Amino acid sequence: MEKNETAVVTIEDMGVNGEGIGKVDGYTLFIKDAIIGDVVEAKLIKGKKNYGYARLMKVITPSQDRVPAKCEYARKCGGCQIQELSYEKQLEFKNGKVRENLQRIGGFSNEKLDAVMKPIIGMDEPFSYRNKAQFPVGYRKVVDPSNPNKKTHSAEPITGFYASRTHDIIANTDCVLGVPVNEDVLNAVLKYMKENKIKAYDELTGKGLIRHILIRYGFTSKEIMVCLVINGPELLKSEQLVEELVKIEGMTSITFSKNTRRSNVIMGDTYHTVWGQGYITDYIGDIKYQISPLSFYQVNPVQTKVLYEKALEYAGLTGKENVWDLYCGIGTISLFLAKNAKNVYGVEIVPQAIEDAKNNAKINGIKNAQFFVGKAEEVLPCEYEEHDAKADVIVVDPPRKGCDATLLNTMIAMQPERIVYVSCDSATLARDLKILCENGYELAECTPVDQFPMTVHCEIICALRRINTGK
Ligand SMILES: C[S@@+](CC[C@H](N)C(=O)[O-])C[C@H]1O[C@@H](n2cnc3c(N)ncnc32)[C@H](O)[C@@H]1O
Repeated sequence: MEKNETAVVTIEDMGVNGEGIGKVDGYTLFIKDAIIGDVVEAKLIKGKKNYGYARLMKVITPSQDRVPAKCEYARKCGGCQIQELSYEKQLEFKNGKVRENLQRIGGFSNEKLDAVMKPIIGMDEPFSYRNKAQFPVGYRKVVDPSNPNKKTHSAEPITGFYASRTHDIIANTDCVLGVPVNEDVLNAVLKYMKENKIKAYDELTGKGLIRHILIRYGFTSKEIMVCLVINGPELLKSEQLVEELVKIEGMTSITFSKNTRRSNVIMGDTYHTVWGQGYITDYIGDIKYQISPLSFYQVNPVQTKVLYEKALEYAGLTGKENVWDLYCGIGTISLFLAKNAKNVYGVEIVPQAIEDAKNNAKINGIKNAQFFVGKAEEVLPCEYEEHDAKADVIVVDPPRKGCDATLLNTMIAMQPERIVYVSCDSATLARDLKILCENGYELAECTPVDQFPMTVHCEIICALRRINTGK
């Protein structure tokens, strides 16, 4: 196919990023927003030797799994990739992706996967599930009235989400993945900005004050946190902002975080409380967590509870175990497991998160949890080799890149009875499971949990059992 040529394509598969895949005379096309089963008209945008990327021009015959998007910006916005696929099929797609990686990269046979893989756990209500949103603030790009060939920007600030693969803001105060109160907060901030002539930050010039609006909502506590990320030392006329925001029921924390760096990092290094307290409180099960603007906290509390209950089940605790929770964040899994274990040891690289973990242990009256700051691949080997640390159960919940090889070797050497592996990337999970299963462990069970409906992502939790009992 030539660039800009159009063709009629039947979508036969879906790629890892949720794009539809079809063929034209043997030539493979990846088509964003096309759904498996659709017949579409697509235009080639970028052609490679054996495959190309095409733009969806028209859905000629919709797939029976195609549903209307709930959000009018679903295709433009970078947040959702598969909102037009029925939720049932989304779950099937994610299950398939996990299974394929475990087979291809992990080397697990079909028979083994039939025996150990449980169906993905989806949500009853797959919208409005996020307890956190970070909205960029900026201006709408418009044609310059004095020169139709030039772009300028609107006078009034907007907030919304970045369009896919750009930093152009799509004005939207009502994201369907977020909680409804986000809209009240965003409108209050925009009103304060307009009335007080406070400028939004401009990435190109590095000028303007307000960069991002972070909103957190406690699903159980109903407490709301608003943190404005600002390009300057202080939040001008903050009393006007407070006046608007405290009208919203549940408002608990109003803060700002100074970030004057010209980078994509959203938050500054510190924050200042303008009104109320510097944190909100929320619960997962009966464990209470204090969450500050800079704390890591799982974004889908409903499915987090499902995930942690699985972690508890897979850990098989009787009260006698020493448990290591590696990559522990603010100690959420550690504290969830602590009541059923003898001791829990959490390891996390971010010092602030460990401060939160210690504080969370304190406010819950948990005394058998200890936390270490550092790289899991350095702390665990050191504790094992120099302080003879023991582990009956090890839980790992690494970032997308998976576990470090040194860490896996130490885990294998420590010979815990059970390993619980929580992952947000099935490819690196499969790579690490292969290593563990070649060194004395077997995969006993594996359950994908859909923490991120409407996107291509999901969490996976695996139970591994030690099989080489003789040492
Ligand atoms: C997916 S999060 C899991 C957090 C936590 N288990 C939870 O459920 O909230 C991964 C965590 O690993 C931390 N991290 C990244 N690299 C690390 C490393 N080499 N050693 C220890 N922690 C690390 C990150 O800061 C992050 O908090």
